[in-house]
Amino acid sequence: MSATILDGAATARTIRDEVAAAVAALRQAGGPPPGLAVVLVGEDPASRVYVAQKHKACQEAGFHSEVITLPGTASEAHVLAEIARLNADPAIHGILVQVPLPSQIDQSRVMHAIDPRKDVDGFHPVNVGKLTMGDDTFFPCTPLGCLELLKRYRIPIQGKRALVIGRSNIVGKPVALLLLREHATVTIGHSRTVDLPGEVARADIVVAALGKPRFVQGAWIKEGAVVLDVGINQVPHPDQPGKTRLVGDVDFETARERAAFITPVPGGAGPMTIAMLLQNTLKARHLLVGAR
Ligand code: GUN
Repeated sequence: MSATILDGAATARTIRDEVAAAVAALRQAGGPPPGLAVVLVGEDPASRVYVAQKHKACQEAGFHSEVITLPGTASEAHVLAEIARLNADPAIHGILVQVPLPSQIDQSRVMHAIDPRKDVDGFHPVNVGKLTMGDDTFFPCTPLGCLELLKRYRIPIQGKRALVIGRSNIVGKPVALLLLREHATVTIGHSRTVDLPGEVARADIVVAALGKPRFVQGAWIKEGAVVLDVGINQVPHPDQPGKTRLVGDVDFETARERAAFITPVPGGAGPMTIAMLLQNTLKARHLLVGAR
């Protein structure tokens, strides 16, 4: 079997176009556009790239978009003051603080400070709690993107055995809860799991989010499984000395021979994250100001 590729880039494009059309209609009716503020603290190169991508996507969709860049030496009080200002700003409906944050800043205190109604990342404890209880709320963007890809490709989830590898607060735990919400039978595997290959072999749906390049081997995967690769790892390029390339947490070439569906890296789960951020910000705007 050679797997069908789950084209995250094309699906994200469709969703971004849908969001842009909704924003154009709102503007035409005289309503305010959705507003997103992204707070970036420090100089982490990957974070700078992600934040620039988010800003560009917002502008393209007709959003009001602000990027607040603070130096890596910024105090926690400074970050909290910015969040308080954004919480009170009526033009801002979504607030995202890019993580990781520098070590002098307590990430948990920062997440607690964001108004849960503007928490388009779904990282505030109130929203994490709502997800845990099965309520509707803002769900974290990368996990939500995984679920959206399954839905748009009409891949059934109910009753399926799903294995999530990785237990981070950003991906592993929320994607497991979202799969549970869709009635999958969910297992979370991690670095201390005794027999990961055995767990993978039983799974109908595998979500790899552990951050280890090409860790999941094709030979482990059940024939006909669905493989969602959330890993983004920079590795030396095999043919071009001194260059790097991106690979996922799954060994794509062997996995595609056994899976029925698989996401590539890049172009799979990654682009869906930004599409879901736009969708969450549009939702926040509707909840805060209504559908006008
Ligand atoms: N860093 C890596 N992924 C994310 C994300 O989805 N949201 C935020 N705020 N920071 C991140």
